[in-house]
Amino acid sequence: MIRLAGVGKTYPDGTVAVHELDLDVPRGSLVCLVGPSGCGKSTTLKMVNRLIEPTSGTITLDGEDITHVDPVALRRRMGYVIQQVGLFPHQTVRTNVATVPSLLGWDRRKAMARADELMDLVGLDPAQHGGRYPHQLSGGQRQRVGVARALAADPPVLLMDEPFGAVDPVVRGRLQEEFLRLQRDLQKTVLLVTHDIDEAVRMGDRVAVFAAGGRLAQYDVPAQILGKPADDFVAEFVGSARGLRRLSVTPIDRGDLEAPDGHQVRTSVDVSASLEDALATMMRYDEGVVGVTEDGRTVGVLTPNGVHRALRRSVQQA
Ligand SMILES: Nc1ncnc2c1ncn2[C@@H]1O[C@H](COP(=O)(O)OP(=O)(O)OP(=O)(O)O)[C@@H](O)[C@H]1O
Ligand SMILES: [Mg+2]
Repeated sequence: MIRLAGVGKTYPDGTVAVHELDLDVPRGSLVCLVGPSGCGKSTTLKMVNRLIEPTSGTITLDGEDITHVDPVALRRRMGYVIQQVGLFPHQTVRTNVATVPSLLGWDRRKAMARADELMDLVGLDPAQHGGRYPHQLSGGQRQRVGVARALAADPPVLLMDEPFGAVDPVVRGRLQEEFLRLQRDLQKTVLLVTHDIDEAVRMGDRVAVFAAGGRLAQYDVPAQILGKPADDFVAEFVGSARGLRRLSVTPIDRGDLEAPDGHQVRTSVDVSASLEDALATMMRYDEGVVGVTEDGRTVGVLTPNGVHRALRRSVQQA
């Protein structure tokens, strides 16, 4: 677990980049830092791997104060995806991915084999792309290389600064999906910076919303951020579409289902689906009701009223 306690950063010119920040990142969870430009997200990330030293407070990794850990040793435990990707332009993709293993002194064959394994993992064909240079890749492919490079030495912690920032929304959606699938297997402790609230609520187990001046405005699960913004700033930041966004982060609750009898059920979703999936299915088939199944057996039906109840409950419970 990563714990920031009273962490502040004031740059020498007096700019307060981060103000008295308390933040716990549980082991194996993905926490998104989100907020407008200049609110201290990158600074926070760089304090965790000691590229920047805080001016106040303490940061611990599994209980150990990171200022007592040699920075180089620390960074070996933390993969880092740099804002704007930051690949080495005169090195091949394969060599870029193998950067940390090479720094760690792995023999060349082993480092290159690891690089190929990682390229595969992030959906790049090593035979086709391994020998290319970064300028010979698309934006989305470059971002995958950035993620592969950060994962190469299998660090328990990943720090990602706008890892999917430089691509169009369609490619971004695909990269997000792929990364979530990877994360389900890898269970890294991840701090992911974004300025996109949709990305934050989609990716994050928890979301930290920053305001200007490096102030943490709210830290909570996505349903709570969208359903119960802590103040006007957060409400404005999550925007007027938050009602719709909440559907995608709220699971179906058995308590909101009605008995199937009396309803014409022509279509159904699995109980693990989100309210958004359920509502979309309802609308796709132009029905006022959708069946909900568990292991293929119908356990109830969901109506628009049930969706409304579920949304209200998700905010009260969380
Ligand atoms: N070396 C520095 N000296 C003085 N001020 C700095 C320095 N580096 C960053 N800042 C300021 O600190 C604040 C926070 O910067 P930071 O890079 O952490 O923001 P950010 O939230 O990552 O923004 P963005 O979304 O644009 O990447 C900004 O106001 C920035 O201008
Ligand atoms: Mg930044």
